[in-house]
Amino acid sequence: MKIASFVGQKGGVGKSTLARVLAVKAAHEGRRVLLGDFDLEQLSCIEWSATRLRNGIEPDIEARAFKSLKKLRKTVENFDLVVVDTRGLADELTTDVSQESDVVFLPTGTSMDDLRPTLTLARRLAKSSKVGSKVVLVLSKVGRSERLLENARIVIDEAGFDVLSHVWPERDGFQADLDMGRAGSESHNPHLRESAKSIEAELFKLAMGVKK
Ligand SMILES: Nc1ncnc2c1ncn2[C@@H]1O[C@H](COP(=O)(O)OP(=O)(O)OP(=O)(O)O)[C@@H](O)[C@H]1O
Ligand SMILES: [Mg+2]
Repeated sequence: MKIASFVGQKGGVGKSTLARVLAVKAAHEGRRVLLGDFDLEQLSCIEWSATRLRNGIEPDIEARAFKSLKKLRKTVENFDLVVVDTRGLADELTTDVSQESDVVFLPTGTSMDDLRPTLTLARRLAKSSKVGSKVVLVLSKVGRSERLLENARIVIDEAGFDVLSHVWPERDGFQADLDMGRAGSESHNPHLRESAKSIEAELFKLAMGVKK
């Protein structure tokens, strides 16, 4: 069983969205996947899973709320992959979850306002021997500026961290899909489906332990 977590120091960067995108990909690949929702204030993954069920979208994706890692460890034996979504601030739980995870995704925007706190957290996590090289940044909700994207890659590279080669592009349609209980490549819009496919394949590969 693998654990892939989405953590961050900032709210609204796409943690819950990408957690659902990865869960959908894993389910479509026939893996038994659980969404572990540690954001008890928002429960985005729990709500989405219920919406999905209500709208009859297959395959079902199970989501459970967790307050602590102890509870998670006790209940996950029957899954191939647990995708963990966390709160929009880095606390002790972030470190604990990261230490337990096989890969730790840090979604971030391309602006320095987003990159700075993300890299601060990445450095903090990387200091722990149990997290170290498991940290992978994900450029998320990326706009159309090539220059901003290129600059973000340079900044991340100079900081010495891995980043996904595909990005999660900013598109309003993805929000509408989430509201319907869909995610990523399940979009009704063929353009959105295509742009989701590459990043979800990359997320899935890393989550299942295939090195880049
Ligand atoms: N690619 C995208 N294009 C446009 N909007 C997006 C995209 N991905 C996510 N969003 C929207 O951005 C908002 C924040 O995304 P999300 O909830 O995934 O972030 P988060 O990091 O989990 O936030 P929080 O820290 O509050 O939990 C949501 O309204 C979501 O629908
Ligand atoms: Mg969230």
